[in-house]
Parts: sequence; structure tokens; C-alpha cells
Amino acid sequence: MIQPQQITPPMSAERAREITATFDLRALPADFLANPFPVYALLREHEPVRRMPDDSLFLTRHADLMAVYRDAAVFSSDKHVEFAPKYGVDSPLYEHHTTSLVFNDPPLHTRVRKLIMGALTRRAIADMEPGLVTLVDQLLDRIEAQGGGDLVEDFASAIPVEIIGNLLGVPHADRGPLRDWSLAILGALEPVPTPEQHAAGNRSVTEMLAYLRTLVAERRQTPGDPERDVLTRLIQGEASGEKLSEVELLQNCIFLLNAGHETTTNLIGNGLILMQEFPAQREQLLADLLATGTNEAAREQVLTLAVDECLRFESSNQLGNRRALTAATVGGEVLDAGALVTLCIGAANRDPAVYEHPETLNLRREGNKHLAFGFGIHQCAGLSLARLEGRIAIGRFLDRFPRFELSAPPVRGGRARFRGFLSALFSAG
Ligand code: HEM
Repeated sequence: MIQPQQITPPMSAERAREITATFDLRALPADFLANPFPVYALLREHEPVRRMPDDSLFLTRHADLMAVYRDAAVFSSDKHVEFAPKYGVDSPLYEHHTTSLVFNDPPLHTRVRKLIMGALTRRAIADMEPGLVTLVDQLLDRIEAQGGGDLVEDFASAIPVEIIGNLLGVPHADRGPLRDWSLAILGALEPVPTPEQHAAGNRSVTEMLAYLRTLVAERRQTPGDPERDVLTRLIQGEASGEKLSEVELLQNCIFLLNAGHETTTNLIGNGLILMQEFPAQREQLLADLLATGTNEAAREQVLTLAVDECLRFESSNQLGNRRALTAATVGGEVLDAGALVTLCIGAANRDPAVYEHPETLNLRREGNKHLAFGFGIHQCAGLSLARLEGRIAIGRFLDRFPRFELSAPPVRGGRARFRGFLSALFSAG
């Protein structure tokens, strides 16, 4: 049986102090990537606005992240300045990331966001539920027939690819490469990507662009329902004429395919692995679900709390970035104009100033104001969809395999920004 320490290895106080003393995002040790939380706790307590060796600032307090998120006029998301030296201005990765809405300020950000949000209405998301349930049940049938499988490969990663594929109307036969493209493009966002990560990221942007050019040309000829199909919506623009250029259109399709992909895979994977790591919480959740009987609203409420706590405890996206456009003050520290700021979501989500017993997983936690989806004008556009996927996937998996057991220690992605597992073998129990 896999023990909790084989999932999240504990870190001694001495080791946490040692890593904190020389903390540098450009050189992170493997034990930090496996369990960064003791280091985050020390930073939050002793140096919540930490000046890093490259002169950027690393923020760990919930209140300081909120202050930055709220002030989008001062704290810019535009990444032209940072990404030029990182990727080279002629590279596919540079064009991609600097055109996607998440790395832009208004007005491009406002235009693209409005178009995307129009297709992610409450009704459109509710309409996705029956198809999602069918997909999840098919995956569970296959796993049941095998008696187990890989939580990530066979389940967690298979769900978002279909949902996002449906959102953009990508034909089923074309979905094969989407996951690898997404992993490669987001992998190149690591604080210091390796030459291999650079090359894979650039190659993936180029391949995805080529694919999307054909898809867009076809959709122009045969438009879908703009209420449901984000691609048709982005192509047609708003009635007010908020059209995107061809480059903006293609790059934001790539972004959307990626944004809802690895993050949601990691929500489902991390959530289910937390059930193995904290067996008493799993038992309590199973009992709470059983107690809801046929009351669907009560079941949704139980699962919503559980999913949000998984998002708080093991946020899929641990780091965010901003650049101060003018001099500013954060957490009592004065920042010069141009200062680069890293927002540590993983640390803010365990801030004792906001959460009772923050280092304890509590799947019944109420009033959970976690920052896993960010906050402010860039707050995740897909958060309702991600929560729906999390509820259906985790809920139905536990209905079917309440006693599932990992059969080997799960393999972590080993990244600082996106936290999740690459593989987790299990038996259905
Ligand atoms: C558990 C799953 C997810 C997590 C943890 C997550 C996390 C985030 C975070 C933290 C941001 C803000 C970035 C920033 O402020 O710099 C963001 C933005 C965004 N996310 Fe998500 N996301 C998830 C799922 C999704 C899904 C399913 C979609 C697509 C349907 C999506 C689409 C977007 C978009 C379009 C943005 C950019 C919003 C903007 O800049 O205005 N995300 N996400």
C-alpha cells in the first residue's frame, strides 16, 4: 500500500530553511518541487515580499496577491518585456504568448475575453453536463473492465481534452496531439526552460498554428452555433464588430486549448491522489456523498466544497506574474516602476491569516476564498467549467471505485508553475 509520504515527501525544518536562504526560481531542487509548502510557509512568515537574486519580487501573502490582482492598471500582465529575452522576438513561442489574452492588458485583453465569455455562459456550461457524464462513465467502464489503470493517462487527462475539443469544435479524430502540444507550450513557461523545452514549445506552436489554420478555414465555410461554439464566435466577433485579426484569432485558440487542459487534468489527478494521501478525508467525503441520497443539489454542494478544497490545497497553477508599470507599494515594500512580481498562489492558499488550519486538507471547508483561479480582470474564464469537470470526474470516480488504491508511488510532473502528476497507477479496489 502506498503511504502518504510516498506522495508528498515531508521536508525537515532544517532543509526548508536551507532552501529558503538561497531561494531562486532559476535553480529549484527536486525536493522543493515535490513539496514546496514548508519553504512557502517560511517565506510567508519571515519575508512575504522576498527580493529574488534576479531583483524580481516573490509574494506569498494572500492579502498582497489580492492587492496586486486588484490593481491591473499598475500591475500589468503584458509580457513583451520579459518574453523577448526569454524566447527571442522572432520565435513562435514569443508570438504566441504575447498575443494570448492572459498575457495582455486591455484593450486586446478586453476584446478577446468578451468574445470567449460569451460562449461560456451558465447555460452553455450546464448544457455540457450530460455529455461530460457520458464521457466520464465510458472512461470508468473501460477502467473497470481492466480492473485499474493510470489515473492521469486513462482518466484525468482524457476528460479536458474532450471538453475543450468540443468547445472549439475540434473533430475527434484530430484530438490526439492536443495534449502533447499543450504540455510542451506550457512547459516552456517554466521559470528557466531547458533548451529541449524551448525547442518542443516552439515546434508545438508551429504545428498547432498549421492545424488551426485549416480548422478556421473550414469553420469560416461552415460556421457552428455561436452560442456554443467558441471558434465560430471568435471568427464572427461581436455584433458591435469586435473582430480579431487572424494572428489574434489563431493564437487565442491555441491559448484556450491549452488553458483548459493541463490545469483541469491536474485538478482531477491531484484531487483523486489527495483521496489516497488523506484516507480519513476520503471516508468522510464518501459518507457525506452517501448521505445526500437522491438529492442532486446536496450532492453538488458536497462536491463543490471538496473540489474547491482540492484546488486550494494543491493548486494546479502555483505561480502568476505581473510587472509594475509605475512605482508602487506592496506589503509595505516599495517597488520601482518595471519591477517584476511573482504571485505565489500555492503559498497564498495556505495563508493562516485567511484559512483556519491551512496545512490541513478539509474537504468540508466553507467560505474557501482560494486563489487557484486568480482574481480580478484576468480571473480564470473557465472556472465554472473546470469546477463542473472536477465535480463530475471526482464524484463519479469515487461512486464507482470508492476503495481504489494507488499501486505505485505516483510520478510528479516536477514543475514549479503547473503542479500535477504525469502518471499514477492504481487498482480499482
Ligand atoms: C482547474 C482548472 C483551472 C485552473 C486552476 C485555472 C487557472 C487559471 C488562472 C490562475 C488564471 C489567471 C492567470 C493570471 O491571472 O495571470 C486563468 C486564466 C484563464 N483561464 Fe483558467 N484555469 C483552469 C481551467 C480553465 C478552463 C477549463 C478554461 C477554458 C475553458 C480556462 C480558460 C482560461 C482563460 C481564457 C484565462 C485567461 C483569462 C484572462 O486573462 O482574462 N481555464 N486560469
